Amino acid sequence: MTEELRKISKKLSKILKKDRYEHTLGVMYTSASLAMCYGADIRKAMTAGLLHDCGKYLSADDQISFCKKKKIPLTESELEMPALVHAKLGAYLAKHEYKIEDSDILDAITYHTTGRPDMTLLEKIVYIADYIEPNRKEIPGLAQIRKIVFTDIDRAVCLSAGSTVRYLKNGGKAVDPMTINTYNFYKKRRIDMNQSKEMARIAWNALNDKKGEDIKIIDITGISVLADYFIIANGTNDSQVNAMVDNVEEELHKAGYPLKQREGRASGSWVLLDFGDIIVHVFDKENRLFYDLERIWKDGKITDIADL
Ligand SMILES: [Fe+2]
Ligand SMILES: [Fe+2]
Repeated sequence: MTEELRKISKKLSKILKKDRYEHTLGVMYTSASLAMCYGADIRKAMTAGLLHDCGKYLSADDQISFCKKKKIPLTESELEMPALVHAKLGAYLAKHEYKIEDSDILDAITYHTTGRPDMTLLEKIVYIADYIEPNRKEIPGLAQIRKIVFTDIDRAVCLSAGSTVRYLKNGGKAVDPMTINTYNFYKKRRIDMNQSKEMARIAWNALNDKKGEDIKIIDITGISVLADYFIIANGTNDSQVNAMVDNVEEELHKAGYPLKQREGRASGSWVLLDFGDIIVHVFDKENRLFYDLERIWKDGKITDIADL
């Protein structure tokens, strides 16, 4: 930690509640990890992460009073949802109390709660670090987002904004329009890219080229954050399974979609290839019947290759 960060941290440790301070450190170090992963400025990421909730030392009412006194303009939805106010207030305090002049850092603090369409890398890093830092209690989909974020930060932003919108709506709570804008922007970008359909098409063809049997595509977008499509197929022996696996990996790699994770292989009985947006499962015949993924994922939508 630099001397500047140490000073800020010391001050925050005195004014924030213990849990909030620990969360703050979690966001700082998670932001640093993401900055390393994506080649962002580590010092800026740590500073923004450390200060993102600095406005939370005040109660919600006091935050609003403070903003009024300092003429910090608040939107209607911020007045209706005081939990949002600390973001804008935090950026003000970062500038005036903690003497941070860098507008990248101040923007990352301003948008850490709601996000915004087309965020900068630093904004995305702090937004998602706030969502996934290690002290966050388990919520559905968190484990997957924690994993996805290190390979596809836009997808992680889309998933976390989507789950925030769902969580608030299901709880009968109001959703800030900016959060909805963030979600819609990243959702649309993903659909526009049509990336997962192209990947599924390439995987299907690669399996088909190696005479894979009964190749199924299951659309799991509506039921899981794991991926958009599962592609399931089987070979009749180990060497065919291995040939199918190699061809899928090679064809997707050529198209610019590198493999993110592989599980299984030696025996060739079940190989899982995780490409982020799609997951390919290649079995031998016996194990395909035994594991029966189609039954486990029956709530997904069986999709014909012609529809992709
Ligand atoms: Fe916050
Ligand atoms: Fe936070």
